[in-house]
Amino acid sequence: MLSVSELTKQVPTHSGELTILNDISFSVSEGESVAIVGASGSGKSTLLSLMAGLDTPSSGKVILSDENITDLDEDQRADFRARNVGFVFQSFHLLSTLTALENVALPLELKGGKKVSKKAAELLERVGLGDRLDHYPKQMSGGEQQRVAIARAFAAEPAILFADEPTGNLDTETGQKIIDILFEMNRSKGTTLILVTHDLKLAERCDRQLELSSGKLVSDNQAKQSSGQPSGQSDRQTKQQSDNASDSEASHA
Ligand SMILES: Nc1ncnc2c1ncn2[C@@H]1O[C@H](COP(=O)(O)OP(=O)(O)OP(=O)(O)O)[C@@H](O)[C@H]1O
Ligand SMILES: [Mg+2]
Repeated sequence: MLSVSELTKQVPTHSGELTILNDISFSVSEGESVAIVGASGSGKSTLLSLMAGLDTPSSGKVILSDENITDLDEDQRADFRARNVGFVFQSFHLLSTLTALENVALPLELKGGKKVSKKAAELLERVGLGDRLDHYPKQMSGGEQQRVAIARAFAAEPAILFADEPTGNLDTETGQKIIDILFEMNRSKGTTLILVTHDLKLAERCDRQLELSSGKLVSDNQAKQSSGQPSGQSDRQTKQQSDNASDSEASHA
């Protein structure tokens, strides 16, 4: 479903070329949930942007849903994203001149959907914002804006959803609700889920964790444990067994 090969991103700076991502390779199966973890500045957001076709690498390629998105020009990438990709940004990127309802309806309209307002309202109700449909972003709290951004990312029912710190601005209870919705989509619609998080509990709920350090992929627990394992489910069980063996507290969320 997603394949990243030898991906490198360098940017020019005053003191010369800076390597933000260094030769990253991995692939993700359909329906898998993957957490990308690592310290601030390790390259997580950059990697997410490249995988979603929001940015282009210096070298290497990204194949998403059988399309080599690295070969597409900017307009083609925009069109590809509208049809295939949902994205929840670290900052919300809501359109300030549109209401909550209009922000969520927009990707549905771009996809040429029907009954877009009704669907957008249903999604906003699911994230607990049924009474904020006509509010503009500046009339909402940070957590409310984040929930609008999540409803918008789900709107077009993308095959793959990228989320950068989706619960970073939320209180524990709201964050939990959002996470439950993310995993419910992952389960019921088979949406592939790739999320960046500093929340270890959230990372553990994913089938697999990739860790970046200074632009390098330093750990991929599936690569270590997947030999002979037929599915993500088995990997998860294997992971829990190994966790339980090393933890005295064996219960998992
Ligand atoms: N356009 C750019 N020009 C120069 N440096 C950049 C550019 N974009 C990102 N960087 C640098 O690349 C590194 C990786 O940035 P990135 O945003 O991917 O980190 P991150 O892992 O998402 O961090 P955080 O957890 O703080 O969000 C950082 O050191 C950042 O300062
Ligand atoms: Mg980031």
